Amino acid sequence: MSKVTFFKGEQFPLEMHKVRIIQKLNLLPIEERLQAMNDAGCNTFLLQNRDVFLDMLTDSGVNAMSDQQLAAMMIADDAYAGSATYTRLYDKLVELFGMDFFLPTHQGRAAENIVSKVLVRPHTVVPMNYHFTTSKAHVTVNGGEVLELITPEGLEVSSTNQFKGNFDVDALEALVADRGADAIAFVRMEAGTNLIGGQPFSLANLREVKATCDRHGLLLVLDASLLADNLYFIKQREADCADMTIPEITRAIADCADIIYFSARKLGFGRGGGICIRDEEMYKRMRGFVPMYEGFLTYGGMSVREMEAITVGLDETMDEDMISQGPLFIKYMVEDLDRRGVPVITPAGGLGAHLDAMRFLPHVPQSQYPAGALAAALFIASGVRGMERGTLSEQRDADGVEPMANMELVRLALPRRVFTLSQVSYAVDRIDWLFANRELIGGLEFVEEPEILRFFYGRLAPIGDWQERLVAKFREDFQDSL
Ligand code: F0G
Repeated sequence: MSKVTFFKGEQFPLEMHKVRIIQKLNLLPIEERLQAMNDAGCNTFLLQNRDVFLDMLTDSGVNAMSDQQLAAMMIADDAYAGSATYTRLYDKLVELFGMDFFLPTHQGRAAENIVSKVLVRPHTVVPMNYHFTTSKAHVTVNGGEVLELITPEGLEVSSTNQFKGNFDVDALEALVADRGADAIAFVRMEAGTNLIGGQPFSLANLREVKATCDRHGLLLVLDASLLADNLYFIKQREADCADMTIPEITRAIADCADIIYFSARKLGFGRGGGICIRDEEMYKRMRGFVPMYEGFLTYGGMSVREMEAITVGLDETMDEDMISQGPLFIKYMVEDLDRRGVPVITPAGGLGAHLDAMRFLPHVPQSQYPAGALAAALFIASGVRGMERGTLSEQRDADGVEPMANMELVRLALPRRVFTLSQVSYAVDRIDWLFANRELIGGLEFVEEPEILRFFYGRLAPIGDWQERLVAKFREDFQDSL
């Protein structure tokens, strides 16, 4: 990675790219932000983008593309079958991961659908370092059970552990001893563990998981959606890997897996997904689902233009200057918030900064969705759109009981190469103000609660008039500022 040292020893991220296309933003006055939040049922997924100032909802499909990616889109081959675009993507994936078989899908969860349909049987279990919402939904809809085998440090919100995404290998051994290898559909390892704050696993840990899987004949499936961040952290934080190149680390990771699937809305900075498979028999078991649910085998529901962009994006993922921007900006944001005493997940991970709503709003019980309430309050105070990652993102069990999440987080994603440092500083300033006024923030309750993936489109309402009181305090402190 390019090393630049500053005269007075300051530490701030310096981009190794420049911005050549811009999109104008709109910052509404706070009274209109309050109205927009209520129109959206206090659910940031339901906001209209025209009302949002900084969209930190997700990094999915909203990363900035490079000039090379845009150029590649112009040479897409849109043949229904046998397109050269497919061959270019296939070749790049073989070069990076060394697996002979590839099935394209329209996005990551479509890959999860196929993997789970083929591998999960009723009453089997899928141990994982930690679940992602859609991964869990696909396992459970096929009758399987998800077991979280993250190391205990992974759930410590504030920590100095550099690899909080590590799998608890002893727990996996104990599970095999208890339930038997036959009950385990597959072992799932997630790169850049999303729901615990974008935290990486180490290569050493992955190798231990692989050795355990080999001992018991278990399949190891890697969710590589957030691989770019994890690669960067392995290179930066794992002493034994400091001299490896990013492609070498990539191949060392891939060598541990039997199947690698990914959302190309994240990995490759495009929009799509796919499944790389080592074994031909397994490929044949999965193949039939692609023409059935996705599209023909050489596009799988993706636009060929996006496929070209993904091929170039995958290549650019091997360049540390390209993948460092996200983690460096996130570190800057997390450390600034931490210095101001705002509770955030530490150490900084990938994906975004994560506010700890449990400590931010200790007076709001989990049954009143503190992370959802904080996400709503932040939008009102700043026009910044974050995402609830807590109890609201959980699903009721078969008896209608609502499981309380391990963590109550507000995720402020930093899509790669999209925001400037001054925009990050604006978000930090408003979060700081909100923290100083946290006692004003109250809880939320459901008005409309969908049965499946309720966080996407459920509607809620504030309990009491806390939102109006927050707006009044903002006006008192900031007068006529937006
Ligand atoms: N796996 C991981 C680790 C993810 O983060 C995502 C998506 C998926 C699978 C599903 O992929 O969206 O292409 O179908 N994460 C998005 C997010 C939705 O906002 O974190 P998809």
